[in-house]
Amino acid sequence: MTARLLDGNALAARVQEELRARVADLARAPGLAVVLVGADPASQVYVRRKGKVAEKLGYLHRQIDLPADAPRALIVETVRALGEDDAIDGILVQFPLPRREDELAVLDVLPPHKDVDGFTAVNMGLLASGRPRLVACTPKGVMRLIAESGIDLAGRRAVVIGRSNIVGRPMAMLLEQANATVTVAHSRSADLSGLVREADVVVAAVGRPELVRGSWVRPGAVVIDVGMNRVPTEDGKGRLVGDVAFAEVAEVAGAITPVPGGVGPMTIAMLMENTLEAASRRS
Ligand code: GUN
Repeated sequence: MTARLLDGNALAARVQEELRARVADLARAPGLAVVLVGADPASQVYVRRKGKVAEKLGYLHRQIDLPADAPRALIVETVRALGEDDAIDGILVQFPLPRREDELAVLDVLPPHKDVDGFTAVNMGLLASGRPRLVACTPKGVMRLIAESGIDLAGRRAVVIGRSNIVGRPMAMLLEQANATVTVAHSRSADLSGLVREADVVVAAVGRPELVRGSWVRPGAVVIDVGMNRVPTEDGKGRLVGDVAFAEVAEVAGAITPVPGGVGPMTIAMLMENTLEAASRRS
């Protein structure tokens, strides 16, 4: 392997230490509420991890579990009540919801000042207009990892693969605001490998196991893998792989994030940072 490994575990641990020290100085613990609808196994894992870190840092943490068939009115009412709860500074509703069409209804009752995911129209609009406030955790974590690694984005060509509201879209806005020249590629893009070949920075966030191959990547490029895909193995346990064919790409790239241990822990660290930020702004 020739690429430098961008270690999300190590950086996330440093961020957590800083947050823990700041929380110890506060009059009141920041409060984070996590709402999980249904029992998707991957979502259960993510939500459990977020709760563990929140508790470790001394946050007040509340998890609300709703059944997969919870009517939209119940989900909306749950979020609305958390919005009015003074002990709660940050509200996270784990996506995807069992009915994707409920997601916008939920975001419409989530007060923007408690939107620690940065998904509401207000926080997305502030980011889009160059005045970022609460910024989506995964793209924010990617930017932190790039910055702390001493990588300068100004004038570099960046390709973001994926245009989701959770990752791709805010990611592209942040890269552009850091003065990269940004292309957003997606499932309908022609000649994806050709676009990636032109890029100094590649962010893969499509949820397709090992889509990005070694032959696609420009020598020395920075490759950020947001994918978390469980693929079947012979022993039945399955294996976690990203959207990047790690072994191949690590032979060509200048720097690369591993899966696991790259972007994932940074997402959680940024959620904790956003929650502390929301708490500070409220008090
Ligand atoms: N689903 C995948 N990533 C995220 C995230 O960062 N926040 C929420 N709420 N749901 C997600």
